[in-house]
Amino acid sequence: MVPDTEIKRQVREFYDQVGWQEASDGFYQNASYEDLRPVVHEYIHNCHLRVLRHLKPSGYLMLDAGSGPIQYPEYLEYSRGYQYRVCADISTVALQEARKRIGNHGLYVVCDIANLPFRSGVFDAIVSLHTVHHLPPEEHMLAYQELHRTLAASSNAVIVNGWDNPPLTRFLNIWIRLYNWLYALIRPHRKPPFPGKASSTKVTQEAPRGTYVRKHNASWLQNDVGSLMPLRIWCWRSVSVRFLRTFIHSRFAGKSLLRFLFWLEECFPHFFGKYGQYPLIELGKNK
Ligand SMILES: C[S@@+](CC[C@H](N)C(=O)[O-])C[C@H]1O[C@@H](n2cnc3c(N)ncnc32)[C@H](O)[C@@H]1O
Repeated sequence: MVPDTEIKRQVREFYDQVGWQEASDGFYQNASYEDLRPVVHEYIHNCHLRVLRHLKPSGYLMLDAGSGPIQYPEYLEYSRGYQYRVCADISTVALQEARKRIGNHGLYVVCDIANLPFRSGVFDAIVSLHTVHHLPPEEHMLAYQELHRTLAASSNAVIVNGWDNPPLTRFLNIWIRLYNWLYALIRPHRKPPFPGKASSTKVTQEAPRGTYVRKHNASWLQNDVGSLMPLRIWCWRSVSVRFLRTFIHSRFAGKSLLRFLFWLEECFPHFFGKYGQYPLIELGKNK
């Protein structure tokens, strides 16, 4: 039994009271960590749909571990061919909101992804997006083991989580800092469009309140988790929101730049998955 630590209590409270509350723009507060501008829409949309390539198109039960309210329309596609989507989350507000979206297609379970209350091998597919990083680092392995345990034979799980300060982000952050420095030099009285220090934590323009986040790097995943279960690292999205907001603008051919970036990610998915900001981790059942 995993103790419900103070960290988990804080995370749950954050999502109940802040993350899944509607902000003035009509989106959840959590969406302020994402770039929702029209110029990046196509790129973000296509990145979301990458998840589908790694899942069986249909089945009986799909687990969404840390489902939140199933906040983006693309998320609905993941379980379209499944009888039920089991939404598992420690936040009751998340599950109430998820129920508003998918009603009887969903089964709603308040639980901890490091200690899942499900039989082994019961899910035909699993997705877990941006959730493992809310656990204390020593419990990340437990979460991977639980996802692997509950996965049915010959099925896949897809896990998306940012890396801790990956090489491509470190490199791009140098250019962001340079840009902000030049901006301050040329326009000393105006704030740069996206100020903020480079870090692996979430950064947004409005700097909203955040909660506990700890990330691992690719070596940990490959060596520690990869020695226990079959996994492959693909690219979900290689750049951070900070990069998008700094360099991608409609008046500077932003859409075309992102089409080119998406094409590059498609050509070298393992490279961008390993060294970019967000990997898509495909977990298999059989080794
Ligand atoms: C960043 S949100 C992501 C939600 C959704 N997967 C998405 O991508 O929009 C993280 C979600 O994980 C949930 N969560 C955090 N720690 C958890 C845990 N230990 N067990 C289950 N859910 C957890 C939070 O309540 C929150 O709904």
